[in-house]
Amino acid sequence: MELLDKLNWRYAAKAMNGDTVPDEKLQNILEAARLAPTSSGLQPFEIIVIENKELKEQIKPVAWNQSVITDCSHLLVFAAWDTYTEERINYMFDLTNDIRGFKNEGWENYRQMLLSSYPQKDAEENFNHAAKQAYIAFSQALAAAAFEGVDATPIEGFDPDAVDKILGLREKGLRSAVLMPIGYRKENEDWLVNLVKVRKPMEDLVTVMK
Ligand SMILES: Cc1cc2nc3c(=O)[nH]c(=O)nc-3n(C[C@H](O)[C@H](O)[C@H](O)COP(=O)(O)O)c2cc1C
Repeated sequence: MELLDKLNWRYAAKAMNGDTVPDEKLQNILEAARLAPTSSGLQPFEIIVIENKELKEQIKPVAWNQSVITDCSHLLVFAAWDTYTEERINYMFDLTNDIRGFKNEGWENYRQMLLSSYPQKDAEENFNHAAKQAYIAFSQALAAAAFEGVDATPIEGFDPDAVDKILGLREKGLRSAVLMPIGYRKENEDWLVNLVKVRKPMEDLVTVMK
């Protein structure tokens, strides 16, 4: 039940007080994102951690002027690969072989299958697939933040092209997918903090087929 208590505590904070999240908590949140499962284990995204005040100030106007962008402790940018390349696929398969210390025929066949499909696909389709994987890590980081007693606001309300430009992401083969300011709620300025959490009833969410 402890996890559900924390998930009930969390909400999409609308105002933060500027206090700093201790590094240990930040690292735990990032580790939760790193541990997220991804399609074929490719982890096709990176996380940019912005502490820099000027960068936050540049991003705020292209993120609907949301105050949490500048009043957060750290602004996490989940940036997905702009496409799947042979090099990127090989990197993860080689890393797996290195870490496990052996090569496996089935795994190598699977590598060839991915090499003969993903890199030939349209970059936009690949980016959309990669962004979905970034969202899995994003969600895991959101839950980890709650576990650590750290507030986090999921943010899709921003201009990705503008954020990519500010951070020079395209040059690195990345595209911003979703933002997550983390910090601490400023209760007296947050209209959402005391409102009851709204979710549709379980019966409208889950269908059991026996
Ligand atoms: C992918 C995603 C993008 C979101 N973008 C924004 C946003 O730009 N600004 C904002 O204030 N809330 C944003 N939200 C917050 C949602 O409105 C909020 O999670 C939802 O209403 C449920 O409320 P709760 O998170 O407080 O429980 C976003 C949530 C998600 C999951």
